[in-house]
Amino acid sequence: MARVRCRWHNVLICVCCPCICLALLFVYVGVVLCMEMNTGVTPGSENVVPRTIYFEATGSYMRKSLAPVPTTFWKLHTDGDSLWNQLQLPMDHYFNPILYPNNTKRGFKNNASLESLLMESFSDVINSNGTTRNITELPEQIQEFVRHMHRRDYRTLFQPDGVCGAGAQDQKKPTLLLLAIKTTELNFKNRQAIRRAWGQVGWLAGQKKNSSGGYVRRVFLMAKEDPNELGVDISELLELESKHYGDILQWDFKDTFFNLTLKDVLFWNWFSQYCPWTRFVFKGDDDVFVNTPNIITYLQDQLKRPDARKTIKDFMVGDVIAAAQPDRSIKSKYFIPESFYKGKYPAYAGGGGVVYSGLLAKRLHRISKRVHLFPIDDVYVGMCMTRLNAHPIHHPAFLTFDFPKKEEEELCAYHKILLVHKRSPSQIVRLTADVKKTQMQCRDVPLRDGVEKGKKT
Ligand SMILES: *[C@@H]1O[C@H](CO)[C@@H](O)[C@H](O)[C@H]1NC(C)=O
Ligand SMILES: *[C@@H]1O[C@H](CO)[C@@H](O)[C@H](O)[C@H]1NC(C)=O
Ligand SMILES: *[C@@H]1O[C@H](CO)[C@@H](O)[C@H](O)[C@H]1NC(C)=O
Ligand SMILES: *[C@@H]1O[C@H](CO)[C@@H](O)[C@H](O)[C@H]1NC(C)=O
Ligand SMILES: *[C@@H]1O[C@H](CO)[C@@H](O)[C@H](O)[C@H]1NC(C)=O
Ligand SMILES: *[C@@H]1O[C@H](CO)[C@@H](O)[C@H](O)[C@H]1NC(C)=O
Repeated sequence: MARVRCRWHNVLICVCCPCICLALLFVYVGVVLCMEMNTGVTPGSENVVPRTIYFEATGSYMRKSLAPVPTTFWKLHTDGDSLWNQLQLPMDHYFNPILYPNNTKRGFKNNASLESLLMESFSDVINSNGTTRNITELPEQIQEFVRHMHRRDYRTLFQPDGVCGAGAQDQKKPTLLLLAIKTTELNFKNRQAIRRAWGQVGWLAGQKKNSSGGYVRRVFLMAKEDPNELGVDISELLELESKHYGDILQWDFKDTFFNLTLKDVLFWNWFSQYCPWTRFVFKGDDDVFVNTPNIITYLQDQLKRPDARKTIKDFMVGDVIAAAQPDRSIKSKYFIPESFYKGKYPAYAGGGGVVYSGLLAKRLHRISKRVHLFPIDDVYVGMCMTRLNAHPIHHPAFLTFDFPKKEEEELCAYHKILLVHKRSPSQIVRLTADVKKTQMQCRDVPLRDGVEKGKKT
């Protein structure tokens, strides 16, 4: 008996040991693999890659060598039933440059099929099989947006006469900078202040002694006030204004906050047609102060960079807001419910004032045909940028949230900035005069870099 048991022991040892070893090996390999995967996204690395629950090709994010690849391109299903995400998913899929390289090229060439594609995804989601999606649960303002978000074909009411905005008569060189300012019919005072102050057109010198200047043009972007709400139709006044200044670009849609995106999209369309040689666009609101000479110097410096040829086609600079969450507080002007949009916003430059290249404006025009309208204008521009695989540059001299405490009181404060929000028409005029007065003393102060007395702001 003892011998038999002993033999059994040997068998056990011979058979089980390798099994146990193998099992341990598997566990070890498994653990190592898991750790590898997690350390792929170290918090210390420069580009914070958002963690996603869907499949994503390694390195697809921020990849420069390939065509645009926003993360949604890889998604097979939207999470939840957020309306905008559902609308955009088929578009992003169709134009996935890796899955369907031919669509990407075709989409740029053929407008008609592109438009029908947009409409198709729209009718698929809104009226899936006859049952109209219940949008009455969305807030009133969003409902109003959704009802019209398929339309972009609004009539142009006034536009500069066949030229790229108001400019100098004797312009000899291409326009360096086009100022495109969002305004409303009623903000005549703001427009007048801008025309007299930072929005003057013609040849403008730069800020620094030696920097070259450039030609500046100007155009105001506006839609229509509801004449019934206003009680009066002011289009005759506008006609006079348009004739006199030649800088009004107006379309026939209602001027509301959620319709602002249309101004960008229709502006790009107009720009692509009338401003072929314009180097840069400043797009901003009518309640900001802009240091135009500084912008000119800054842009001339960009053009002088050795890698300018490569960078200019993606060039956008402003106050960049990264990884913002949609505002979910119901009382906010920016309120976006989860049933409409889910996920973070892409990095975007605050809409108070942003500068981008003319080349980028034309690319934005083309790509915007593949992106469903979104009610918040600057976020929409960010969405288009992602799909171009372009990234806005942050510059601390764009103060879209005004100066940090006390900094404004410094003598040369306004010489250090490119833009500050928000200023009234009378302030705009006064500031422009002040800046002229201190021109000699402050000529050589550098632009704000956000690091003040050793402290990061
Ligand atoms: C894409 O286009 C190329 C030439 O334009 C053609 O040879 C190729 O078959 C097309 N691929 C698909 C998947 O249609
Ligand atoms: C597409 O639209 C652009 C202007 O937006 C126009 O110049 C071009 O001819 C159109 N292409 C086709 C194929 O219709
Ligand atoms: C719509 O209904 C038809 C049958 O009535 C069905 O074949 C089709 O798959 C449905 N489509 C969707 C998107 O549900
Ligand atoms: C849509 O939702 C509202 C509010 O929940 C409800 O009163 C209405 O009956 C719904 N309509 C349809 C067509 O389901
Ligand atoms: C600035 O201009 C002066 C003469 O006008 C010249 O001597 C100097 O080298 C220039 N400086 C730079 C940085 O171009
Ligand atoms: C946008 O403009 C259109 C056309 O005037 C209008 O019908 C719609 O109500 C506006 N949208 C919003 C959200 O106000």
